[in-house]
Order: sequence, then C-alpha cells, then structure tokens
Amino acid sequence: MKESIVISLGGSVVVSEDTPLTYFSELAELIHRFTKTYRVFFVIGGGSSARMYIQRGRMLHFSERQLDELGIMVTRVNARLLSFVLDSDQKVIPESTDDAAKSEGSLVVMGGTVPGHSTDFVGAELAMKTKSSRYVIATNVDGVYEKDPHKFPDAAFLPRVHVDDLLKQYGSDWNSAGSNMVIDGPALKLIKEHHISTCVINGKNLSELEKIFEKKSFYGTEIKI
Ligand code: UTP
Repeated sequence: MKESIVISLGGSVVVSEDTPLTYFSELAELIHRFTKTYRVFFVIGGGSSARMYIQRGRMLHFSERQLDELGIMVTRVNARLLSFVLDSDQKVIPESTDDAAKSEGSLVVMGGTVPGHSTDFVGAELAMKTKSSRYVIATNVDGVYEKDPHKFPDAAFLPRVHVDDLLKQYGSDWNSAGSNMVIDGPALKLIKEHHISTCVINGKNLSELEKIFEKKSFYGTEIKI
C-alpha cells in the first residue's frame, strides 16, 4: 500500500499575484513524480480572496457561520483551480474528509468542510483519517515564528516548537472567520490528541516540499508532539 501524505497549501500561495505561473507547472511536475510512491492529499486554503469576501460579509453584519460558509466556498474554488493545474481526474471536490479519504486514486484535492475552523484543521483531520505519515502545512512564511513575521520583522524563527507551547500561546478555540494564524487552535488540538507528525514550510519553496517527500532535512518548523 502507498504511504499517504497531506499537504495543506495556503490560499495565500495559490492566489497571490506574487506566485509566478511557472510555480504551477513546477508543482505539477513534482507531484506527478511523487504520486508514483505516495497518495497525496491536498487541502487548499482561501487566501486573500476568502478574506475579501469575509470582510465584505462582516460589513453587511453576516453571522460568523455565514462568514465561514463564504470562506469555505472560496477554498473550494481554489481547490478546483489546483485540481485543474494538477490535471487530477477527480470529478468533484470532496466536501468532507470522509469523502476525500474514500476517494480512489493517488491524488485528491479538497478545500474546506464545515464552519468553525480553517483548512489547517481539515488537513489534520484528513491526515488522521488517512493514517498519513506526514502532515505538511505549506504556507506563505518559512515556518513558525515567535510572533507574526509580517508584522514584526525581528520575530525569531523556530525550527522546532512543541505543540503544547503553541496551544499555550494561541489556545485551542476557533477565533473568527478569516483569522489568519500559522496553525489554527482546533488543528493544534487534533495534532496533539492524535500525534499527527506535522511540519510547517514555505509553500512557495518547492525544493523544501521535495525534501519532505524524500525524507531529507528541510528548512521549516517541526512541530514536536
Ligand atoms: P483558510 O483555511 O484559507 O483560512 O479558510 P486562513 O487562515 O485564512 O488560511 P490561508 O490564508 O489560506 O493560509 C478561509 C476561511 O474559511 C472558513 C474560515 O472562516 C476561514 O477563516 N473555513 C474554511 C471554515 O469555516 N471551515 C473550513 O473547513 C475551512
């Protein structure tokens, strides 16, 4: 049986104007190379497009649940985009981790599921259900920092961090639609409870993703559990 891996790819990587078009062909080449030996599950985030809809909905006084629903729809559009890029033969984007886990084939792409968390949680749940050897959070920063590196350029990079320290710092609750943390609280809780082997890398650096497939040392953060 093939080994499974889950990659949560930030919408910030997929829809950012800074991501060159060559990124997508390079990603497709890399994934097709590794689907020979792995089952690869992608969970795609909403990025700036989701935040734009959520911000507009918040101005219109939508409920948190409605805002989450807007975010979920956008993650599914991004997932469809990535499934076309990767030329996956899936007919539909799975709407639950159960459906994704049951899918046949070596490549499955999905977005969000239900309100109350971000796609970080979806990826952790899918890693648990598919007994994946690795859960990779591929985001728009190099890994976990002691504070947000976009706001604090002097923030220290953490090559290793214990999940308990992250839980202490951020808690295990879902904050609100569109909240943009490196790993959301509900995902941290699941990673801890199910001992999910998790790392965080910069999704734009495909060489780091390649090293993870090859089980080599990589530049990013290992989450200790
Ligand atoms: P994301 O997973 O994209 O959140 O979902 P994010 O933290 O902004 O991640 P990046 O920027 O892509 O890395 C966007 C929003 O969609 C809703 C939430 O409101 C989330 O903030 N959502 C997503 C859900 O409610 N449930 C899901 O399963 C997924």
